[in-house]
Amino acid sequence: MELESILGYLHNKTIFITGATGLLGMVLVEKILRVQPDVKKIYLLLRASDAKSATQRLRDEIIGKELFKVLREKWGADFDFFISQKNCCCSRRCKF
Ligand SMILES: NC(=O)c1ccc[n+]([C@@H]2O[C@H](COP(=O)([O-])OP(=O)(O)OC[C@H]3O[C@@H](n4cnc5c(N)ncnc54)[C@H](OP(=O)(O)O)[C@@H]3O)[C@@H](O)[C@H]2O)c1
Repeated sequence: MELESILGYLHNKTIFITGATGLLGMVLVEKILRVQPDVKKIYLLLRASDAKSATQRLRDEIIGKELFKVLREKWGADFDFFISQKNCCCSRRCKF
């Protein structure tokens, strides 16, 4: 698939991603936000006891990572606003 068609596909789409705290999921989230900032929303399923804990995991274990440095530099002071517009956390209490 050509890059242009992937970018076109992602434009204004709402996407649901699991495993975003892991290696592959995190790379996927960063890549989508970097190459197609016009994605509509990215919902992330994060294991957490409540929405507050899920948001904390998003900050500490995903967007706070070095991997997001390029995006943070690109958006500067607007980075948090950009993320808040694109990202929604879905918390889920899981017992295993
Ligand atoms: N990395 C590779 O090179 C590679 C290559 C081929 C295939 N894969 C496969 O691709 C998948 C992801 O790989 P990865 O390297 O990103 O793994 P990883 O770094 O271990 O991350 C796993 C992710 O899955 C989440 N998760 C695990 N069990 C879950 C559950 N029961 N409910 C909800 N979320 C759950 C973890 O969430 P928590 O943070 O909450 O634990 C974490 O976000 C794996 O199935 C792996 O076998 C990976």
